[in-house]
Amino acid sequence: MRTYLVTGGAGFIGSNYIHYMFRKYNEEIRIINVDKLTYAGNLENLKSVEDRENYTFIKADICDAEAINKIFEENDIDRVVHFAAESHVDRSIKNPDVFVKTNVLGTLVMLNAAKASWEIGDNIYKEGKKFLHVSTDEVYGSLEDDGSFFYEDTPYDPHSPYSASKASSDMLVKSYMDTYKFPANITNTSNNYGPYQFPEKLIPLIINNALKGKNLPVYGDGKNVRDWLYVEDHAKGIDMVQEQGRLFETYNIGGHNEKQNIQIIHIILDTLNEMLDENDPRRANVSEKLITYVEDRKGHDRRYAIAPDKIKKEIGWYPETKFEDGIKKTIQWFFENEDWMENITSGDYQKYYEEMYE
Ligand code: NAD
Ligand code: TYD
Repeated sequence: MRTYLVTGGAGFIGSNYIHYMFRKYNEEIRIINVDKLTYAGNLENLKSVEDRENYTFIKADICDAEAINKIFEENDIDRVVHFAAESHVDRSIKNPDVFVKTNVLGTLVMLNAAKASWEIGDNIYKEGKKFLHVSTDEVYGSLEDDGSFFYEDTPYDPHSPYSASKASSDMLVKSYMDTYKFPANITNTSNNYGPYQFPEKLIPLIINNALKGKNLPVYGDGKNVRDWLYVEDHAKGIDMVQEQGRLFETYNIGGHNEKQNIQIIHIILDTLNEMLDENDPRRANVSEKLITYVEDRKGHDRRYAIAPDKIKKEIGWYPETKFEDGIKKTIQWFFENEDWMENITSGDYQKYYEEMYE
């Protein structure tokens, strides 16, 4: 039975990945989820798996080398899937320090612990051990509105403290592959959306605010472009890269689904109107009048877009979920999980939101 060490599994993508993996492999794998439970980590995301015998949660900070080494000493880990990170650009602009600490130093701790546990000779590792570092397309910088794409060999050009910290962590992983032949892959992925996404990010924030009749904040002119990928397609891509990809390679995972932010907002409003029952009182809240242009994000990247050609050609992965379907599934999930949103927005996040948008 393969044992996975998943970091950041209580966050948005990590929890979707854990659900995906149990759906796919059921009893064939064991997952150890290591998460510090920052504001973004939520064990409610994993309620339906917590009683499984082949699932273990460990609360630990990836910067804590002693705690991480202990996990490797006590378990025969076959796969590391490293999600844990500070992930929100706006927070990185306000407080970059924790981004460097978790994203860079935390990744170093994970690399050292896996290397120490797996290395059996000089640059020789136990059979079949693999580390996958989950990263972002934001490391490549910003594209013009000219139809160009990010590829795996696009030079790194990060602009925000978030993307700079992720770029640094990618470089560390790369250096371990180049110097120590450490068995790893890097994936750089476009913007994800779907169930369990924390409502500081554009799509869940707009869904939540629209249902409550609160302003829909649009940064700048609203014409910045992101390439949206349904989170389950991402989870599948990660598994395919780890099992079928060539070791030491980077794979870009993209949605081929570019949209301006303002388009996303209009699609969400239209879809809410379509999906809400005639008699639902929330229907009266959903209105274009809520759209509010606010000050632009500092250093706001204009456009991200991935052409996922390499992963398609080598592994056969492609983004299966059409945006019209993915956004409906996401909205339906939020309809069915109002308590989840309530629990988040009644807590610390509310304070952050008030400060951020005051
Ligand atoms: P998230 O913020 O929802 O979750 C991050 C998780 O990491 C949380 O559970 C948090 O508690 C945990 N964590 C944070 N610091 C930690 C620490 N020091 N030790 C242990 N756990 C810690 O993030 P997400 O959106 O799920 O992103 C997951 C990964 O995917 C990140 O590495 C991110 O850079 C990358 N990524 C995200 C997107 C996206 O659209 N969300 C796109 C591309 C890549
Ligand atoms: P976000 O979800 O924070 O992801 P990222 O910055 O990693 O791409 O933001 C997506 C886009 O939406 C980005 O261009 C910023 C914009 N945005 C808004 O216009 N209003 C908002 O309230 C938020 C959170 C984001």
